[in-house]
Amino acid sequence: MRTIYLNGHFVPETEGKVSVFDRGFLFADAVYEVVSVLYGKLVDFDGHVQRLARSLGEIGIIGAPDADDWLAICRELVARNNLKEGMIYWQVTRGSPEDRDFVFPPADTLPTVLAFTQSRTLADNPLAQRGIRVITMPDLRWGRADIKTTQLLYASLMKNEAIARGADDAWMERNGWITEGSAQNAHIITHAGVLITHPLNREILHGITRASVLPLVAQRIEERPFSVSEAEQAAEAFVSSASGFVMPVVQINGQKIGNGQPGSATVQLRRAYIDWARRTAI
Ligand code: PDD
Repeated sequence: MRTIYLNGHFVPETEGKVSVFDRGFLFADAVYEVVSVLYGKLVDFDGHVQRLARSLGEIGIIGAPDADDWLAICRELVARNNLKEGMIYWQVTRGSPEDRDFVFPPADTLPTVLAFTQSRTLADNPLAQRGIRVITMPDLRWGRADIKTTQLLYASLMKNEAIARGADDAWMERNGWITEGSAQNAHIITHAGVLITHPLNREILHGITRASVLPLVAQRIEERPFSVSEAEQAAEAFVSSASGFVMPVVQINGQKIGNGQPGSATVQLRRAYIDWARRTAI
């Protein structure tokens, strides 16, 4: 059984208790982070701490752990769960007032702070050998995709629909332009050898993996939206995320990308990112 962290205590997962009035549960009034663990060490820790602080700031949740606290919590969770490879989820809600109300609770209401581990094979993920198939769907999320909130219903619906339709995942589009994947940033490499990736604005999550991967890219980079048809005709495509690292995309809307195998630049980039992650994990 896992040990989790909840509101200052390390407890067995079955003993963690949260109020039925918690605003995370009633309003999805919560933000989160996902940090990967390789060899028992945290990948891109600073980036995730900074993005959590930004997400919290954008919606005005105060009183969450600071960077040193998160580091201590994560190291304790890794040790207690003997985690070698996988993820740690950090979840922070606006807390549990004694009643349900759209109005925020008093400022002295403590946030609910949860962290838990998931053991996963990341570096040798067999999906990376085969590459994933995606289909595009309209981006029906709210207008602040840059805040990492727990409003994940649409992402979950899309992923399930993609699987029901024989694909692995979904890419979202707004007016014909790809924004991002269900839980990953989306990138393509053109036949001219240019990597195209959506610019950082409110339409996408500012991926921590994206930020670490781009400096490792050998190709020229253009940060601009790309269209669904540009993606379908790309030489290579991939997604980036804390849990998938660099994951090749080999089919978009039933259209083979390249020869239908993970592209060589993508495979190289995945290797380079994993090497970088191993060197820099703390
Ligand atoms: N997902 N875009 C969306 C919508 C995401 O949910 C994620 C992360 C990303 C990639 O961001 P990063 O590189 O910082 O992980 C982009 C995480 C992994 C998840 O929810 O499981």
